[in-house]
Amino acid sequence: MDNRWRQRIHIEPETGWINDPNGLCRFRGNYHVFCQYSPDRADGSTPRRWGHFVSSDDMFSWDYTGDVLRPDIPEDKDGVFSGSAVVSGNLMHIFYTGNVETPDRAAYQIHVTSADGHIMSSKKVILTPADYPEFCSCEVRDPKVWIEEGIWKMVLGAKANDGRGCVLLYEGSDPDSFRFVKSFDKPGHGYMWECPDMFSIGGHKYLGLSPQGIPSEEFRFQNVHNSGYFRMDGDCLQDFTEYDHGFDLYATQTFTDGKGNRIIIGWMGAGDAPYTNATTDLGWQHCLTLPRILIPDKDGRLRQEPLINDRLCGSVYTVMRGNSLTASGACDIRIPECGKETRIHLGDAVISYSDGILEMDLSCGDVGRGRGRRRIRTGDIRDIRIILDCSGIELYADEGRFVMSSRFYPENAPEIRSDTDDLIITEIKDMEVRRHGRRRSGNDR
Ligand code: FRU
Repeated sequence: MDNRWRQRIHIEPETGWINDPNGLCRFRGNYHVFCQYSPDRADGSTPRRWGHFVSSDDMFSWDYTGDVLRPDIPEDKDGVFSGSAVVSGNLMHIFYTGNVETPDRAAYQIHVTSADGHIMSSKKVILTPADYPEFCSCEVRDPKVWIEEGIWKMVLGAKANDGRGCVLLYEGSDPDSFRFVKSFDKPGHGYMWECPDMFSIGGHKYLGLSPQGIPSEEFRFQNVHNSGYFRMDGDCLQDFTEYDHGFDLYATQTFTDGKGNRIIIGWMGAGDAPYTNATTDLGWQHCLTLPRILIPDKDGRLRQEPLINDRLCGSVYTVMRGNSLTASGACDIRIPECGKETRIHLGDAVISYSDGILEMDLSCGDVGRGRGRRRIRTGDIRDIRIILDCSGIELYADEGRFVMSSRFYPENAPEIRSDTDDLIITEIKDMEVRRHGRRRSGNDR
């Protein structure tokens, strides 16, 4: 088996396809990450299930327990779509969208509970198409639920009948009795809003979102679909800012860790993209991003900091100009002061910064599988940090104010070199994933 492109520190499937992270939560001291999963087809052409990973307190070594939610009722027969989890009492409450494509498209919001993230209760349909406001089309999905001052709140992504993306807010006194309260939208921001996420950090309120159909600009919104956030002023949506400007980031979700940090994880992939992934022919496709801490600047703009446990860091090397180091696994590459311009080579991939423009160039040979050059306007930046994995680059510039995540497929382990004397490379130990396969669970039929 060709395992050259197996990620070492990113969650990915052993076989099949994954997309959105779902149900992120901390429950009884463990972290749970579910994801959209088609275990049998690397092209994702079978109805989605939820795969389940659980870690102890480090979010770095995981147990994969199986595909724990499968389409098995009429209301989710064409897919257990995205959703979220809330911990209340001794239970994890999971909410997801049941996708039905025939004879007409319909979306049901469904609630299940679990005491371990693996064995699920029976499914309860809590919202049907009759419960969506009249101005909405049949595209309504991706419940993100939280509890605020004792009230259960849910946001849903939707497409309005007039072709605008919007978010619906529902509230209830318990997890089974949500009622529509109001909607949010912003003209000019696409036709369908997926994966909404409403949260506050340090007094700033945000609506995270994956909108489809925002027109591309030279330095922004360059993917077919984008993922980012609106700052909120009361109910009013301010400017939309992308979380990430790389080729592969979509469908982000956030949750709070044991230290009170707001953590974001995204799908390190992109829907409807014109580029491909070299692992598809090997039987698997896509991964999730590393967990990242979201930190607001004074003005509320969000920075992102990858979560890498010190325990996992190995040897540290300083690589001077003219020298290079071959990356045999994952590593953390830093240029603490990047000056007016700099260039870093990761084999055939090149990251450069010059005149206030940061560029990721994956156009050499077939390393990008159709991904070319991606440029963003950053203005002056201080530092560059790259988390390199065997087929992925997460680039953080200016203390994570600008992030670019992309897959890439080097033929050989990339040689890392730069034009500075200040390139610091820290080896990162491989993440542990123990795979248990699927134990029988309550909803097996
Ligand atoms: C986003 C998305 C969600 C949907 C899921 C289906 O990538 O389209 O809106 O719930 O993927 O896999």
